[in-house]
Amino acid sequence: MKYSEKVAKLPIKENPIIMGIETSCDETAGAIIKNGREILADKIISSATEHAKFGGVVPEIASRTHTTAILTATKDALEQAGLTLDDIDAFAVTEGAGLLGALLVGVSFAKALAFSTGKPLVPVSHIRGHVSASYLADKSLEPPFITILASGGHTAIVAVEDYYKMTVLGSTIDDAVGEAFDKVARVLGLSYPGGPNVEKLANTGENNIILPKMLKNYDGGEYDFSYSGLKTAVINYVHNQESKGIEVNKADVACSFQHSAIDVLVDKAIKATKEYGYDTITVSGGVGANGHLRKTLKERAEKENLRLIVPEKRYCTDNGAMIGAEGYLQYIKGNFADLTLNAKAVVPLDIKRR
Ligand code: KG4
Ligand code: ZN
Repeated sequence: MKYSEKVAKLPIKENPIIMGIETSCDETAGAIIKNGREILADKIISSATEHAKFGGVVPEIASRTHTTAILTATKDALEQAGLTLDDIDAFAVTEGAGLLGALLVGVSFAKALAFSTGKPLVPVSHIRGHVSASYLADKSLEPPFITILASGGHTAIVAVEDYYKMTVLGSTIDDAVGEAFDKVARVLGLSYPGGPNVEKLANTGENNIILPKMLKNYDGGEYDFSYSGLKTAVINYVHNQESKGIEVNKADVACSFQHSAIDVLVDKAIKATKEYGYDTITVSGGVGANGHLRKTLKERAEKENLRLIVPEKRYCTDNGAMIGAEGYLQYIKGNFADLTLNAKAVVPLDIKRR
């Protein structure tokens, strides 16, 4: 019997055990998730130090590193959970968005596992995976809630209306917030990965440089963002000071930039949560690991009497657990792929805009 016919006949299991595989960028990750909520194992192998020498992710290096790390990531996850491949009910894998060559490693590996075990192959959107990390952070979390989607490629305020239906209330009209962190890191001479390094430096500085308010004369959506102007303002400030022979206090630049970049995310998320009458707010994506974001959001949520769910830093940046959590939601709907599954550089968010 053909693989796709065989898996179509399998019953959807209760409390399924799902392996999540993630290789969209520079983390090779394998995790095992029970019933969409419980992390039985979670292994992340990062190739960030390889890329640091080049100032950013080198796609070719990312793909090659995934090829050698994927077996360890998944084997170690099984070992951590005390399970074997036979115990896995489905293999969920990031199909996109991300670097094509990098994604193909995970997709091909997951196909091989699914085919050899005769279990379903579940394609997962990386962005939906980030949102589903919140379900791991608090087992009692149920939609509706507002999430701040803040990663290297996306910046949006999203209303999560149910497990499958989301509405983008506003998003960036140019750069993503993580991208702005990475670019500012470069201007300040900090190494890759930019975000955590800007944060480290910002912690030793003061918020004392006035940077322009974003979208001052913009008449688009009230939940939209723009990070390109802020980034340019930082670059201009640094070059201006240098041309005048004034030494730049890089820590102050980092701190002032961080405040401008983050505070607007927090403001708009709180506003949206109140406008929608929701009582819960969560954070999705790598910038969610930022300490200033976590702290200010906590303060503001407490003040507004809102419940805040922020995944551990490890589950904000790329990981396999979030793919297992989102894989669960797709698995219970029977959203399986056949062995022709391809990697996609871009995956439509499948999230409508308000
Ligand atoms: O979600 P993620 O790991 O990958 C994408 O899906 O893009 O996000 C990566 C982004 C990078 O731009 C990185 O600089 C940023 O998240 N990031 C941070 C921090 N940790 C990661 N930005 C600010 N502060 C951090 N601590
Ligand atoms: Zn990501």
